[in-house]
Amino acid sequence: MLSRVVLGLALAVGAYARPLAGRYAQRIESRAASNGTYDFIIAGGGIAGLTVADRLSEVANVSVLVIEYGPFDQRDDGVMIPGAYFPVPYLWLPLMSTPQTALGGASYLVPAGRVVGGGSVVNAMFFHRSSAEDYDAWDKLGATGWTWKKLLPYFKKSETFHAPDSTYAAEHNLTWDESVHGFSGPVQASYAPYDFPGAANFYNGARSLGVQAREDPNAGDATGIFHLQHSVDPKTQTRSSARINHYDRVIDSRPNYHVLPNSIVGKVIFEGTTAVGVEYIDRASGVTSTVRASKEVIISAGSVHSPQILQLSGIGDASQLAAFGIESVVDLPGVGQNLQDHLNLKVDYNYTSNVFPDGGSLQSNATYAAEQRALYDAGKPSAFDITATTGSQIIQLPLSNWTSDSASIIALAKSQDPSALLGGNPDPTVLSGFKKQREIIISNFDTVAIGDISWNTGPETSIYVTRPLSRGTVKLNSTSILVDPLIDFGAITDPTDLEMLLAIYLKNRELMATPDIAVLGPIETTPAPGLTDLEQIKTALKANVAPSNAHMCCTNAMMAREDGGVVDPQNRVYGTKGLSVVDASVWPFVVAGGPQASVYAGAEKAADVIKARHGLL
Ligand SMILES: Cc1cc2nc3c(=O)[nH]c(=O)nc-3n(C[C@H](O)[C@H](O)[C@H](O)COP(=O)(O)OP(=O)(O)OC[C@H]3O[C@@H](n4cnc5c(N)ncnc54)[C@H](O)[C@@H]3O)c2cc1C
Ligand SMILES: *[C@@H]1O[C@H](CO)[C@@H](O)[C@H](O)[C@H]1NC(C)=O
Ligand SMILES: *[C@@H]1O[C@H](CO)[C@@H](O)[C@H](O)[C@H]1NC(C)=O
Ligand SMILES: *[C@@H]1O[C@H](CO)[C@@H](O)[C@H](O)[C@H]1NC(C)=O
Ligand SMILES: *[C@@H]1O[C@H](CO)[C@@H](O)[C@H](O)[C@H]1NC(C)=O
Ligand SMILES: *[C@@H]1O[C@H](CO)[C@@H](O)[C@H](O)[C@H]1NC(C)=O
Ligand SMILES: *[C@@H]1O[C@H](CO)[C@@H](O)[C@H](O)[C@H]1NC(C)=O
Ligand SMILES: *[C@@H]1O[C@H](CO)[C@@H](O)[C@H](O)[C@H]1NC(C)=O
Repeated sequence: MLSRVVLGLALAVGAYARPLAGRYAQRIESRAASNGTYDFIIAGGGIAGLTVADRLSEVANVSVLVIEYGPFDQRDDGVMIPGAYFPVPYLWLPLMSTPQTALGGASYLVPAGRVVGGGSVVNAMFFHRSSAEDYDAWDKLGATGWTWKKLLPYFKKSETFHAPDSTYAAEHNLTWDESVHGFSGPVQASYAPYDFPGAANFYNGARSLGVQAREDPNAGDATGIFHLQHSVDPKTQTRSSARINHYDRVIDSRPNYHVLPNSIVGKVIFEGTTAVGVEYIDRASGVTSTVRASKEVIISAGSVHSPQILQLSGIGDASQLAAFGIESVVDLPGVGQNLQDHLNLKVDYNYTSNVFPDGGSLQSNATYAAEQRALYDAGKPSAFDITATTGSQIIQLPLSNWTSDSASIIALAKSQDPSALLGGNPDPTVLSGFKKQREIIISNFDTVAIGDISWNTGPETSIYVTRPLSRGTVKLNSTSILVDPLIDFGAITDPTDLEMLLAIYLKNRELMATPDIAVLGPIETTPAPGLTDLEQIKTALKANVAPSNAHMCCTNAMMAREDGGVVDPQNRVYGTKGLSVVDASVWPFVVAGGPQASVYAGAEKAADVIKARHGLL
């Protein structure tokens, strides 16, 4: 979430960033010998990869190797301390999109983690679930068994929920429902014990517009205004990354769990259509080695790189692969299709009479930052408990709550030609799946969240479109894993997405004009100050929107093969043996809000399914 933070922080954080504090221990990784054999090999040690590795290696006589492109993080303040958030050293840089045709041909940064722990080391830590209807729609689209009801036990299993202090909670209108939470899982989930005074203005302003206060968005209805739970261990107020919660936590007792960092999986090795191992490159030496898997190869390289690895291995659209001289193992046109993300728009204001301190004070006021850091270091509530430059609350609403004219937006969506949206000559299976998705997604535009507003109480407001109808692709640009794939978000190729963005933007203007916020003297500075003509506003929105909020997904969809699907409901790649995909790339469509809680839960579920099919449960 809030990927622009990543860039904005590069300058802002300098005022108080410190070199390595040295207050954290270092772990030493196990190195796998090349030419070895493991029961399971996992390509990519991100959220899904480490979750599955942890669960599989619970079985003492099962050996697991994770091969991860990035290094172990150094437990730098920038990734450990929320208020010092500065993930740049562990991002995949530069990773760029192709020119976006509907956005004037501009290319955009594709934010992704490249580190043991993947996105969980670099993300903004917001940890929340989507609405029940979203998961139920996945199930209807072919991800059979991925309903809200069946995922709930895995959401619980994945987390240890820490309730906030009751006095603090009452003062801040912070509510929750313990019955939907877990209390013994690996991810430490909590709420920041500090907030800026402007949070009350945001809350009261939203309430005055009729936005419901949601008791707990993790209970199956993720609409309304609510406080953002985050993946932070409240005992230390530090990040609970997958590296910490699914590796460090268990590694002393798991000689059977190896992580090989700084190593790039280039392709899967097949005997016929059975995956028997992978080829990987040591980043330091450039040497290519192989390692064998006797039970399964699991691809968990994230939604940009998992399809790239499959394609390089001969799994994908056979005619596209032939153009690169890659022999087809299984002709699976859905690989790399169906790319989705959340649109991300920065809508900023100057405030003539804001209340000090606010969500920009750590960056603008070194005295304040030093005071807050001292409180943090003393274990007292502090602005450093909040992810730098972000807010603690979010408003997520269905379409009809953003605009009184949702009917015309729905009509616009229904009038689109899905084939033309996919470029005019799509693979028939991919088109079939897209049509089914559109029908179900449009049918609940008015009941589940389609977008969000989050104000950081200072200079930054963020607007997101979270139920996009546009689709993109990830395609090879080379036969080398070392060359980035072509990442085309297809942002706003369906004009419905721009209308949704406009509706949220206009509602934000109403929000800023409520007495609770107007009293702070907001003056819009970007993207459309002073504009009232809707066409002019839309032009400004297109010039300012980013196609990614770092929530890429869905490029190896769990749908029927006839619908362009890539994996079956047990995460197995169609047409192969011994090969599965477990990460956000298997979702049929993107969840509302932050994805990470859903990635953890989905990986917990997949781990159980994998154990079951190998008699390891
Ligand atoms: C800057 C940023 C902010 C975010 N903020 C939030 C937030 O606040 N809340 C939220 O819910 N979500 C957030 N997200 C998104 C969330 O972190 C991701 O959705 C999640 O990490 C996806 O999990 P994954 O397992 O699919 O992939 P990842 O966690 O991305 O893991 C994939 C791993 O595979 C590795 N890899 C890739 N290719 C290869 C290869 N060829 N060989 C070996 N390894 C490879 C990568 O280096 C990476 O470590 C954010 C993401 C970013 C980047
Ligand atoms: C792995 O096997 C290859 C081919 O037999 C060999 O060239 C290489 O030296 C082996 N590597 C190691 C580390 O044993
Ligand atoms: C590993 O243990 C499981 C039970 O946990 C058993 O079924 C299996 O046979 C064992 N495998 C080996 C290779 O020892
Ligand atoms: C909490 O809600 C009450 C009324 O519902 C309001 O007066 C108060 O300002 C709110 N405080 C915060 C921090 O949201
Ligand atoms: C959406 O609007 C309806 C109708 O005004 C209202 O009943 C509902 O509570 C609103 N939803 C949220 C989440 O605010
Ligand atoms: C900066 O922070 C200090 C310490 O909290 C505070 O006294 C001062 O008023 C702040 N300055 C501004 C311009 O807000
Ligand atoms: C794709 O490869 C071509 C040829 O190597 C290169 O010029 C181009 O920049 C690449 N495209 C992207 C988006 O990386
Ligand atoms: C907003 O504030 C900045 C810094 O004080 C100033 O340079 C800019 O002109 C202001 N913009 C508007 C629209 O008031």
